[in-house]
Amino acid sequence: MRCAELGLIFCSFVVDVVSHRLAEDTLEVVGTSLIQRSLSLQKAHPWIGKNGDVLRQGSTVAVAATHLRKGAAWNWTAPLRGLVRASPVIDAEGSIYLSSINGVIYKFNQHGKELWQTNTGRGLPGNPVLYENSLFAVQDDCTFLALDPSNGKERWRAKGGDVFGPDTPSIIAEGARVFTACCDASEESNIGGATYVVAMDASNGQKLWTMRPENKVYNFLASVVDDSLLFADLAGGVYRLATSDGKVIWSHSAPEHASLGTGGLTTAPNGIAYVTTNTKDPSIGASRGVLSAYFITDGKLLWQKSLPLSANSGAAIGQKSPNTYFVTVALGPNPALPLPFPPKAFLDIEPLSPSTKDGLKPGKAMTFDAGSGEVLWSFDFPDWHGVAAGDSVDHLCLPDSFANPSIGGDGSVYIAGESGVIYRLKDSNGDGKIDPDEVDSFDTKNAFQGAPALSDGIVAAAPCNGLFVFLE
Ligand SMILES: *[C@@H]1O[C@H](CO)[C@@H](O)[C@H](O)[C@H]1NC(C)=O
Repeated sequence: MRCAELGLIFCSFVVDVVSHRLAEDTLEVVGTSLIQRSLSLQKAHPWIGKNGDVLRQGSTVAVAATHLRKGAAWNWTAPLRGLVRASPVIDAEGSIYLSSINGVIYKFNQHGKELWQTNTGRGLPGNPVLYENSLFAVQDDCTFLALDPSNGKERWRAKGGDVFGPDTPSIIAEGARVFTACCDASEESNIGGATYVVAMDASNGQKLWTMRPENKVYNFLASVVDDSLLFADLAGGVYRLATSDGKVIWSHSAPEHASLGTGGLTTAPNGIAYVTTNTKDPSIGASRGVLSAYFITDGKLLWQKSLPLSANSGAAIGQKSPNTYFVTVALGPNPALPLPFPPKAFLDIEPLSPSTKDGLKPGKAMTFDAGSGEVLWSFDFPDWHGVAAGDSVDHLCLPDSFANPSIGGDGSVYIAGESGVIYRLKDSNGDGKIDPDEVDSFDTKNAFQGAPALSDGIVAAAPCNGLFVFLE
């Protein structure tokens, strides 16, 4: 039955009750056998790239800065109106790395002193990753770079393909290999997206393998779990590959009526992978998000939720109590494209529905129990309108409606998006609502594509024009 037929704004369905029961029994077992190894192999950097760790949980056990309203300890603006779309990285010393679209990577200490900067010579559309003692970035021509994080010096560079970006793909590494998604010159598209996953030797840049999923991938975001790589394509098809040779261990087809999914996949310590994507229900005409939960071991669907608004970013996983988790997503239509004439004119690329012509952008955060899919709380952001904050024809970030959420060790959920406001939401009294005194926020005046990075007492938030660092 369709949501529209039921006349509901929000409608959810548990697809497979049997596998759901199975999940409750096996969650802990799968959790310890599969996941702990992946996390223990990852050395002590608290936030290695987009969504924090190799699982892409989007969370940390550390309690980050909790008073956004007081303002940032410092901020930095990219020179020459440069664009920033990457999520910051935070290392074990609390130093912050930021990659800019025009090809410069910066390292700051947590108090805002610049430690080094390096101009890599070409655009850097993606989210870099800090793995052990290397910072990996990929240039717009799919050249992988391995940098020494202590001084920014290049250790090696090697081509993995022809084109990378201009969407915001992510790079991920494990001990021996580094991965992202690229395409060939003949497949280039000016809106981005990649056609194959590529693996390089992390020690010397030797190209190891490529793998072509059924559909393109957009904003590629892969997790590493126990010698395997998990990711979703833009239709919401899900894949688990062996990291050694790229062979498919399992794949799961996309949901019905799939449209463009720009979110991604995150895995959780409960042995489940969570994927956001979108569907275009012909009876509604508007894009609706879908959140799906798959078993990492065999790709079986645990549950699937139809969401009230489009899901253009990925999920994050927080811890409720030992061995129980929650999943948070941020929903809403993408900002409009600014037009050169007349002043303030814009084009809505993703209308809310065919009847909404005024650029209205409702936004919503929703949190689900990770095991059962039950809604724990939801929160409505103030409506946004038109183009993203700070966007103009000559400073075109064109972010998704929201960056992926990031979750601190105290259960605080940090969400930033097209309005330029970074929020901290926490249902402190556990009443299933976010009360006014459970909302903390700060307006940076520039929209976000990069998700906030969290570490002990630190929130590093990178709007499209720079960086704001909040310290406890
Ligand atoms: C950014 O930092 C400058 C000082 O360097 C300060 O004057 C300004 O108010 C800060 N901006 C915001 C929005 O906090």
